[in-house]
Amino acid sequence: MSISNSLKVWVSSAPVLRPVFSILRKYKPVARIGKTVVVTRYKDVMDVLKRETDFTVYEIDGYKMERMGNPFVLGMDASPETTRDRDILRQVIKREDLKTIRVMIRHIANDLLEQAQPNHTIDTVNGYARLASVRVVAQYFGVPADEATMMRWQRSIFSEAFANLNDNKAIRERGMIAAKEIAAHLNQLIQQRQQQTTPLEDNVLNRLIQLQPYNSWLNNDAVRRNILCILGVVENTSKVVTHIIDQLLKRPDIMKACQQAVHANDMETLRSYCFDILRFNPHNPIILRYCKHGAVIGKDTPYERRVPAGSTIYAATLSAMFDEDIVHNAKQIDPNRNVEYMHFGYGPHVCSGKYISEVTVPELVAGLLRLKNLQRAPGKAGKIQYEEVVFPKSLSLTFN
Ligand code: HEM
Repeated sequence: MSISNSLKVWVSSAPVLRPVFSILRKYKPVARIGKTVVVTRYKDVMDVLKRETDFTVYEIDGYKMERMGNPFVLGMDASPETTRDRDILRQVIKREDLKTIRVMIRHIANDLLEQAQPNHTIDTVNGYARLASVRVVAQYFGVPADEATMMRWQRSIFSEAFANLNDNKAIRERGMIAAKEIAAHLNQLIQQRQQQTTPLEDNVLNRLIQLQPYNSWLNNDAVRRNILCILGVVENTSKVVTHIIDQLLKRPDIMKACQQAVHANDMETLRSYCFDILRFNPHNPIILRYCKHGAVIGKDTPYERRVPAGSTIYAATLSAMFDEDIVHNAKQIDPNRNVEYMHFGYGPHVCSGKYISEVTVPELVAGLLRLKNLQRAPGKAGKIQYEEVVFPKSLSLTFN
């Protein structure tokens, strides 16, 4: 990794941002520097994420998805089409599936861990969480592909849509190529399934196809647009699992409590620990929004502020999850909190894969915690290495 990349990783890391946010929360909850506005208190972050007509997404990442030929809900602002897409996603990604998903992910995790057993070492990122997620995309979402190719597609498109803030040409071009390839792959899968004469297997893509006769708007382009929700699966899950394991390895007492929960098959307790500890290094410290027409933030508070049209809003979700007004004893890890975390966003764009991930993430963590004498690999390999600043590249672990 180049020095400038290392610096960027460090500057954007939670341990550096947390004290800065803490000062802003106290003295400048809505801080403005030119056209950049940083919002740090829990209630205001929620408020920004709720107000989808004041604070929009198209100008943030929607236009990039459109440019790649693959618009999907996260880049679409309030409109009848957006509501329709969200509703259809809710119909095909069902809460009733969670039991099936748990069995599926346990199976996938066990396979990967068994493979790693002879060498007593595993890479949390590419040898485990990222690969497991690609298998979830194949099995649950119904989009099989060569695994290395699917990882490349996911990384390239995600990188361009959500992480290419400086519009780097190489990232953009890689994203465009991957988007074209995945679209061709999806079109082919959709046509194959439509022509299949035997009953379709039950998966998300096939459910969309089966809903076509009942929804005249759901043509093949719309099916493709919606199945692209798979772009949320791989990089997010991989980063979240890697960050949670890294945090657990830093805190042996919490690690022990989590291992006890795993051995008691108490997945609810493990889930609570996972998402509370993730606050200390969330996959994403900030959610961006655009303010097209100007708006007020912090209304009726002493820090009420009018934000000018054309501003970019940094809704600091990391900061919100340390706001003592809502998250008491925020610096402690507490599996018994009754707060809404912001790992999955909030409001209209809240993650469509939230409930699935609340199963897959703890299950993937549990798989690692079941290993005997789990430790970091010696040296640099045992620390998270990043690529393109935001993506974990490796975190090697050893076990007996
Ligand atoms: C641990 C894993 C995951 C994390 C941390 C995560 C995080 C997020 C966040 C923060 C947002 C909101 C972004 C914003 O408001 O700008 C979001 C939205 C979204 N996520 Fe996830 N996600 C995860 C897994 C998934 C999965 C498994 C899916 C598959 C269905 C998915 C699909 C989506 C979609 C479609 C949206 C946009 C929803 C909308 O705009 O209505 N995500 N995710």
